[in-house]
Amino acid sequence: MSSATPYAARDGIKVYTRLGLRLYDPLIVGLLARHVWQCPAETFVAAYRKHLRANHADVGVGTGYCLDQCGFDAPAPRLALIDLQPNCLGFTARRLARYRPETYLRDARKPLLGIPAFDSVALGGILHCLPGDMREKAAVFDALRPICNPGATVFGFTLVNDAIAANHCRRLAWRALNDLRVVNCRDDTAAGLRHELTTRFRDCTVENVGCFAFFSARAH
Ligand SMILES: C[S@@+](CC[C@H](N)C(=O)[O-])C[C@H]1O[C@@H](n2cnc3c(N)ncnc32)[C@H](O)[C@@H]1O
Repeated sequence: MSSATPYAARDGIKVYTRLGLRLYDPLIVGLLARHVWQCPAETFVAAYRKHLRANHADVGVGTGYCLDQCGFDAPAPRLALIDLQPNCLGFTARRLARYRPETYLRDARKPLLGIPAFDSVALGGILHCLPGDMREKAAVFDALRPICNPGATVFGFTLVNDAIAANHCRRLAWRALNDLRVVNCRDDTAAGLRHELTTRFRDCTVENVGCFAFFSARAH
């Protein structure tokens, strides 16, 4: 049963307790994404390998799984971690301490001011944790404009409902996670995402893999 209270920004960060962070990689990346959403961990890491630059900001860092697996080619990359949940920032900064990351406790929907700009910005798995429909979530794309160098790559992935109906198990998990307000993506579609990207960026790509839409775009 759906709750009448609107999904709020704090709902999108509530599961990232110390226990939640310990369970995230095995349960969400290892089990749910691979077997229910039909998107193996290698696909997320491959997106990072393709788009990551040596001057990078990660927005919505979770446990830092993809960055940890992907690594950087450059010997001394600049890495910034941006998140509304202090637990995620602390966990990921410790995991990636070898890169001496900068950390910023910010709501990604608000303009990211006062941070020197980057050549790549990742939005991995954050859009499906934000309030509102895709049009409202796209505030994130506007908010990160100040931290994008000209031509910077913005990339990421988010759950969309395009392929949910295909399978009973997916439908159950989708409904449960939306009802529990762990995610908020009932009405999100790849087409809606593409629309928001193309009105703001150039060279936009959106590709469905299982229940995720993977996207990339370039800042003007
Ligand atoms: C599903 S996790 C993504 C983890 C990681 N990027 C990955 O791909 O595995 C979502 C992340 O977005 C963060 N988040 C949710 N709402 C946010 C907001 N309004 N501003 C900044 N971060 C937010 C959460 O705290 C969490 O770290």
